[in-house]
This record gives sequence, C-alpha cells and structure tokens, in this order.
Amino acid sequence: MIVRNSFGKMPDGSEVEAITLENALGNQVVILTLGATIQQWNLATDSVDLVLGFDSVEDYLTDAHYIGRTVGRYANRIAAGKFAIDGDGHQVSVNQKGNSLHGGESGFHNRLWEIAAIDDSETPSVTVTLTSPDGDQGFPGTLVTQVTFTLDNHDCLTIHYTAECDKDTVFNPTQHTYFNLRGHNSGKVFDQQVRLIASQYTPADDRGIPTGEVKTTRGTPFDLSELQPFGQLIKHQHPEIVAANGLDHNWCIDGFDPTQIEERLAAVTVDPASGRKMLTRTSMPGLQVYTANFLGAANAKQGSKYAPFDGFCLESQFYPNSPNEPAFPSPVLRKGQKFQSTTSYQIVTD
Ligand code: GLA
Repeated sequence: MIVRNSFGKMPDGSEVEAITLENALGNQVVILTLGATIQQWNLATDSVDLVLGFDSVEDYLTDAHYIGRTVGRYANRIAAGKFAIDGDGHQVSVNQKGNSLHGGESGFHNRLWEIAAIDDSETPSVTVTLTSPDGDQGFPGTLVTQVTFTLDNHDCLTIHYTAECDKDTVFNPTQHTYFNLRGHNSGKVFDQQVRLIASQYTPADDRGIPTGEVKTTRGTPFDLSELQPFGQLIKHQHPEIVAANGLDHNWCIDGFDPTQIEERLAAVTVDPASGRKMLTRTSMPGLQVYTANFLGAANAKQGSKYAPFDGFCLESQFYPNSPNEPAFPSPVLRKGQKFQSTTSYQIVTD
C-alpha cells in the first residue's frame, strides 16, 4: 500500500511529499522527496522506528549530518576536489578540510526530487528523479539520476540507482541513513554488533583520504569477520580509529566484479537486546561504516535529541577518492552509459 502526504514546503514554496510504502506485515518506510530521504522505518508489531530523522523541512535543511539522505554526486571524499578524466582536469566544490565531501557545498541531499513513478503493488515502490545541471558543484555534464525504493514482504528495503550523463563524469551515490536497531531515540549503539564480509579495507589519512593501499584486515581492528560490539570498536586505540573519533572507514566488500550488478552480502548488524538484525547487501565495491562520531541534533523526531554514537551508517560506495586512484574500481561514468547499482537493507527479527 502507498500513501502520499504533504511534508511541508521548501523555502521557495514548492511542496515536499512524504510517500509511505507499507508492506503486507503493516511495516512502513517513509520516503521524502526532499533529499530522496528515508524519514521513518516503522515496525508495526514492535512499535519501533529504526531510523533517525526529523519532523519538518526546516529541520532537514539545517541538519549538517546528512541524516537519511541520498548523497551525490560523489559520496565521501575527493582530495582537494580535483580529478581528471582522460587528462581533462576538474575542480569541484570543496567543503571539508580542503576536500570535497558528499557532493560539495550543495549536494543532492538538500534538493527537491520529483516523483517519477509509484508502484502500489504487493511490493510497493517509489521512484524519484533529479536532474543535476552541467557544472553543478563543478561536476561535468548534465546528470539525470533516478532512485527507486522498494519495500518487500520480508522487510527488505531495496534501493536501486540509475543515472545517465551527457558528458564523461564521475558518479558515486549513497544512502546516509543512521540506523539504531533498538529505535531511533534509544541512545548509543555501543552494544549493537557488526560483522562485515570484507577481508580488506582502504587505510586513510587523518582527513579520511585513502593512502591508495588496499590492505588486509587480518591482524587489525578492522577485521570484522566475527560480530563485534560497536562500543568496543569505537574505543579502540588504533591511530586510524582515534583520528576518526570512532569508525568512519571504507571496507572493500568481498567479491566485487565491475561487470556484475548483483548484490553481495556486505554487513550483518545485530541488536542483542531486541533480537533484531539487519542484513546489508550491495552491488558496490565499498562500504563506509560510520558510527555517528560527530552527530548532534536538538530538534529530532517526536521531540528527541541525538548525540554522538546514537546510530550507525552503512554507506555503500566506490572507495573514497577513487577518481584519483587508478588502482581502485573506477567511478567514471561515460557519456551516454547507464549507471546502475543496488543496495538493500533487510530487517530480520528472531
Ligand atoms: C560520512 C563521512 C563522515 C561524515 C559523515 C556525515 O560518513 O565519512 O566523515 O562526514 O559522512 O557527517
């Protein structure tokens, strides 16, 4: 079932819509056209909302943490905002410590997307679209992106991205939901656990720019082949974890093949207290695990407040700074070529 509601207005008076996808179990995901945002994920039987968010357009527009948003054109960092495609240099908007983060100063997360399609079937879905003009934040080409959110009857939310550009460009979209498997307003995720299907990661400097190495996780705290509580990882004294104030690192999900568009299992996250689990699958090569190290919001949903470590993000992506690292999987999207990727989050309750 699908319900469409008004969520308020943008500063220019245009309407923001909230689209509720409800499955046969009565569980609901709410998507906003502002930022192609996941605003709620309600489990009916448990009366719990698993994602952090806000109740108003104003609160989203002042949020600096990308809560729930679709991020683009380039999720994560591009060093100094510079890269070249076939020797053609580009300078994109720089907005964090001299680097470009999450699409630059004015990324996709605060744009008003348009509804392109609604499928009110057994597995309800909504497709939203955004046209980013040539030169937007410095990125080449007019890029048309579509994102489809589908909720099935196994509580799997699948996010499918497609895009096409009229010039050679780079493209790396992600979803920046902060999950808290105990409920969006239930505090720190220290005793929730994570396992990653990733035997390598990309070490980075203290500004989050990869050194260029792809390193085995074996023998390091980045080996998450067994479930481990976030709290234990966050307080680890490894210099890369200390530098990021917690986890904010890119793992190379095993089995990436650029010719395949199938998803692979990337992460299993667990809340032992509620018995709730989430499976994250993606067709993308990398996953940024971010433990909300700098989160803060005084005006969140239903009068709640958020503080650091009150959620975790599992952001599927090309590795950070890939446009400048020829050995990493390439984020180049050629003129006229169709970009496709899929990432899904599935809630399983024991
Ligand atoms: C990503 C980045 C972090 C931070 C968050 C949003 O996870 O890697 O450094 O910018 O997004 O605050």
